[in-house]
Amino acid sequence: MSTNSNMLRPLLISIFVLGCFATIFFMYFKPSTSWLYSPVKSLVSSNQDKSAISTKSNESVIIILLWFWPFGARFKLDVCSSQYNIEGCLVTADRNLYNKSHGVVIHHRDIAGDLSNLPSQQRPPFQKWIWLNLESPVHSPRLTGLNSLFNLTLNYRQDSDIRGTYGTVIAKETKEDFVPPSKNKLVCWIVSNWSPNHARAKYYNELKKYVDVHVYGQAFGNRISGEECQSIVTSCKFYLSFENSIFKDYITEKFYRALSLGTVPVVLGPSRQNYENFIQGDSFIHVNDFPSPKELAEYLLLLDKNEYLYKKYFKWRRHFTAHGYGPWARRLCDACAYLKKHNEYKSINDFIKWYWG
Ligand SMILES: *[C@@H]1O[C@H](CO)[C@@H](O)[C@H](O)[C@H]1NC(C)=O
Ligand SMILES: *[C@@H]1O[C@H](CO)[C@@H](O)[C@H](O)[C@H]1NC(C)=O
Ligand SMILES: *[C@@H]1O[C@H](CO)[C@@H](O)[C@H](O)[C@H]1NC(C)=O
Repeated sequence: MSTNSNMLRPLLISIFVLGCFATIFFMYFKPSTSWLYSPVKSLVSSNQDKSAISTKSNESVIIILLWFWPFGARFKLDVCSSQYNIEGCLVTADRNLYNKSHGVVIHHRDIAGDLSNLPSQQRPPFQKWIWLNLESPVHSPRLTGLNSLFNLTLNYRQDSDIRGTYGTVIAKETKEDFVPPSKNKLVCWIVSNWSPNHARAKYYNELKKYVDVHVYGQAFGNRISGEECQSIVTSCKFYLSFENSIFKDYITEKFYRALSLGTVPVVLGPSRQNYENFIQGDSFIHVNDFPSPKELAEYLLLLDKNEYLYKKYFKWRRHFTAHGYGPWARRLCDACAYLKKHNEYKSINDFIKWYWG
């Protein structure tokens, strides 16, 4: 028996020494992709695949960063899916997401003449800067240094990348004659921003000599609310949809509001032909249809007496409706929808010439 124990001793010693080596090995050598972990890895791999899929679907989320709140006014950003059926958008004003943002929306007026208000960090290669501006060139400060900065434009101009129209005219599903709401005034005008140099101020000063114009708004010392505005516009046969400046495609809510409320717009703005790119020609009266404000006034007075001629201006409403376009948030969703469809490279190098000529 002692012979057996004598034979076992070296074996036990070797096992002990080996055990020590193994312990030291695993204490100081951290296996990174060790064979030891492969069975565990295969156990969790199905879970990892799941998270990979959700990461992938999150990667297809387009992040739109609103760099400035337009004119400082805040609003709800999380509306693309719930209100406009545009899926897969994250619209945020959180500048910490800059590095991940696919689009950075920059509202022109809020640059406030100082380019250091723009993002200063390095622009990620995939990121597009979207210039947002719905004002005409005379109300948009011309800033040097804007060339070769933006990738896309969101503007009322038809040749901008993302259309920033103020309203839309949409076909109705069912044909139905439109009966205009009852009226107790002939011509109305609401104006907040008055300048004697505006073409519209000059035109109004002549027009009022020949026809009564009911005027409202800050320019006339009676600021009115949105609700009052609606009821005033509705109560007039004609509304002066006079733009503050005259530029191609610059046709604003002043026009669409009257159309949608069942009031005939009398327009002063770009050419009749330009308006007719947006709506049927028999839906409005253009000041250029008349040699002078006097003849326009005479025509409005004639329509006041002739129900048949007046109602002709609502023929288009049998097949169409007009709507204001909606809030800023909708435009950010449009920017998201655009980026989902377009990932081509683009840089606007002649930007200042494009907008200010
Ligand atoms: C991915 O998106 C889903 C749904 O939008 C969200 O619940 C989840 O937390 C997101 N995952 C990550 C890793 O961001
Ligand atoms: C964005 O990335 C740059 C490097 O490209 C880094 O310097 C910066 O701190 C990052 N910003 C944020 C907000 O993560
Ligand atoms: C966006 O425009 C800038 C300025 O011209 C340019 O440097 C950048 O590469 C463009 N990026 C994309 C994604 O088009």
